[in-house]
Amino acid sequence: MTGTLEGKRAVVTGGASGIGLAIAQAFAAEGAHVTIADRAAAMPVDVANEAEVRNFFADVAQQGGVDILVNCAGILIEKPLLETSVDDFDRLMGVNLKGVFLVGREALRLMVAQKRGGRVINIASELAYLGRENCSLYCASKGGVLSLTRAWAREFAPHILVNSIAPGPIDTPMLGIEMTSPETLAKESQNPLGRIGRPEEIAAAALFLAGPGGTFMTGQCVSPNGGAVMF
Ligand SMILES: NC(=O)c1ccc[n+]([C@@H]2O[C@H](COP(=O)([O-])OP(=O)(O)OC[C@H]3O[C@@H](n4cnc5c(N)ncnc54)[C@H](O)[C@@H]3O)[C@@H](O)[C@H]2O)c1
Repeated sequence: MTGTLEGKRAVVTGGASGIGLAIAQAFAAEGAHVTIADRAAAMPVDVANEAEVRNFFADVAQQGGVDILVNCAGILIEKPLLETSVDDFDRLMGVNLKGVFLVGREALRLMVAQKRGGRVINIASELAYLGRENCSLYCASKGGVLSLTRAWAREFAPHILVNSIAPGPIDTPMLGIEMTSPETLAKESQNPLGRIGRPEEIAAAALFLAGPGGTFMTGQCVSPNGGAVMF
């Protein structure tokens, strides 16, 4: 720990598990005050629910505001398109895209009012670039996250920096490695580094974007994916 985020207040959605948990822990280890917004937290927040998100940020405002937002809450629905319902669409987009919009809007409203800058980091996925059979809603939601990121980066420059991270496959409950067949695991590991990533490797990218090294970065997508997608 070097205290690079000392005095900063961070909000991490999806911070109760997997990548979000690793980011919350990494930020706290660097001295940030971290608040988790997760439907699995002690005080649950559903990022897809406008009233809950507004109430959550009213509390955040009272407790000192927000300097860093990480939009990490997400769900995956794996289904052939021809079996995909409108309910599936609403549920997945509700969390992965509307959730990023709702949380981002309230956090950015607060950051603008605070007049002390800010960083927003949106967790997308390499699947926004690669596409994946039976995951079209998920891929589309993450493409939307990349587009929101670029638009917000322009809209809130120069004082608030907005970037995304597009991880490759990461060992979390979402990937469910222990329940995954050897064939699927072998497929997920098909990148130049030949393996699945660890949540800490995504937290390292988030720390860079949130910290003193990220001051000339906005509208960018950082891609810790083992080389599966190269730009
Ligand atoms: N694991 C991967 O391979 C991978 C790869 C690329 C991108 N991602 C993205 O990383 C993010 C984190 O995924 P993870 O792998 O850590 O998954 P995870 O399932 O371990 O964690 C997701 C968290 O989001 C929370 N969440 C879900 N819906 C919510 C809602 N409506 N409101 C509030 N919280 C909600 C869950 O309770 C959970 O704590 C997601 O956006 C995911 O799409 C994951």
